[in-house]
This record gives sequence, structure tokens and C-alpha cells, in this order.
Amino acid sequence: MTAALIDGLALAKQLREQAAQRAQVCLAKGRPAGLTVVLVGSNPASQVYVRNKVKACGEAGIRSQLIEKPETLTESELLAIIESLNHDPQVDGILVQLPLPKHIDAHRVIEAIAADKDVDGFHISNAGALMTGRPLFQPCTPYGVIKMLESIDAPIWGSHAVICGASNIVGKPMAMMLLARGATVTVCNSKTRNLEEHTRRADILVAAVGRANMISADMVKPGAIVIDVGINRLPDGKLAGDVDFPAVSQVASAITPVPGGVGPMTIAMLLVNTLESAERRLHITT
Ligand code: GUN
Repeated sequence: MTAALIDGLALAKQLREQAAQRAQVCLAKGRPAGLTVVLVGSNPASQVYVRNKVKACGEAGIRSQLIEKPETLTESELLAIIESLNHDPQVDGILVQLPLPKHIDAHRVIEAIAADKDVDGFHISNAGALMTGRPLFQPCTPYGVIKMLESIDAPIWGSHAVICGASNIVGKPMAMMLLARGATVTVCNSKTRNLEEHTRRADILVAAVGRANMISADMVKPGAIVIDVGINRLPDGKLAGDVDFPAVSQVASAITPVPGGVGPMTIAMLLVNTLESAERRLHITT
């Protein structure tokens, strides 16, 4: 079997075009939709992600602001920045790029963001809302995965989804989203014994571990849909996912590439969440 490619770039482009139309409606209602991104320190990967997010906002007609602070910023200084953004009527979305420097408690920072501006969907009340089936903002990466699955009419209902990785950013919200759509969900973590026994049962396999090429072809059930959330930098500088793409694409029925898969979708969903927030604030009904 040669898997169909799920083209995240093409799907993200469509979503970004729709986002641009929605941004125009906001503008016509009186002001642009606005996202503020806060970056603390100089993590090179974070700098790239943040730049891409700000660029995508500009292209969609969303007003974006990047607040860059040195590694030495204190937690209370960061909390003060968030407090002022919470009260800024021009700001519909606040995103604090993770990871934060070690001396800052990321949980405390995330909980300080107004839940109705938390376009990352990381605040405990947004996590709880997702868990209880009444989501406000859904975390961008798993939300993008759902859009990719929907784009190929993947039969989620009644399927067995196996997620490798149990992070708050991807694995756990992914589990909630798939569960809400009728999947039986297995969440594996770094301590899972005999990982391949779980992955081989997956109709939908989501790899979000952060280890290059760790999902080999013999770990995948023939015909499975394989979603690769991993972005790993190889020693030669090239990007690789968590999935051994050439081998697994001979076994799977559909697969996402890296780059050009989940990554662009994460940014597209950030635009979608920001516009939802702006529309709520501007009383735009869609
Ligand atoms: N770091 C890695 N992924 C993300 C994300 O989706 N949002 C934020 N804020 N930080 C991240």
C-alpha cells in the first residue's frame, strides 16, 4: 500500500484564506482582530515559531504584536505584562511562547492569561471546558490534526486512536478531541511498555513524542491513518518527524509529511482561534 498524503500546507492555505475574509469582517466592524505573542529568552526554535506566527497574522490581516523580553525577565514582570494585555481592548488573543526560562512557573503564567483571550487553549478552564465537552478555545496543534482527519473524511467514530505522547499541548487535548468524536483512545507515554503492541492496534496513530523516526513500519497496522506531530532537527540540519515516513507510507492508508503536515496547520488554527475571540468581542455572529 502507498499512503495518500495529507497535505497540511494546502489545507492550512485554505484556512488562512478563510481567516483573511473573517479578519476583513472584523475590520469592517470597527477594528482589526489582534494577537499579542510574548517571547521570553532566545530559544532559537521558539524564535522561528514566533516569527512564523506573527507573519501569518500579517498575511491574514490580523494585527499582531510581538513582545520580546530577555531571559532575565522575572516572573512578576511577565505577570504584569499579561495583566495589562488582559485589559487591553485591542487584544483578542494572548500567546506566551513555551518553553519559558526555568525560573518562571509556566503554570502560573498560563493561569494569569484571561481564559477568554487564551487562544492557545492551555488555561485550566479551557482544558476543563474541552474535557467536559464545552470547548471555548481548543489547543491549536490537536485542533489542526482534527481538521486534517476531517479533510479526508477519516472515520473517527468507533475507531481506535492511539496517541504516543501525553503532553498538555498535544497528547492530552488530542485524546479529549478524539474521545469527543467517538474514538476509543489509548494514550501512551515514555513509560509505556511494549509500545508497538499498542501502536499496531491503531486505526488512527498520532505520534507526538519528539524523537526522530521512532515510529517504524512494523509498528503500524496496514491501512492505518498516521499523523506525525514531531518536528525534530537531525544532526545534518534537516527536519524529521517522529515517523519513518518512507517506510510507514508503504503501510499506512494516509500519512502527514514533515515538514508540510501538522506544522502549518498549528499556525492556521491559531488564526482561527484569534478570529473566534475577536468575533466574540465584536459581537459578530457567524
Ligand atoms: N511551544 C510549542 N508549541 C507551542 C504552542 O502551540 N503554543 C505555545 N504558546 N508554545 C508552544
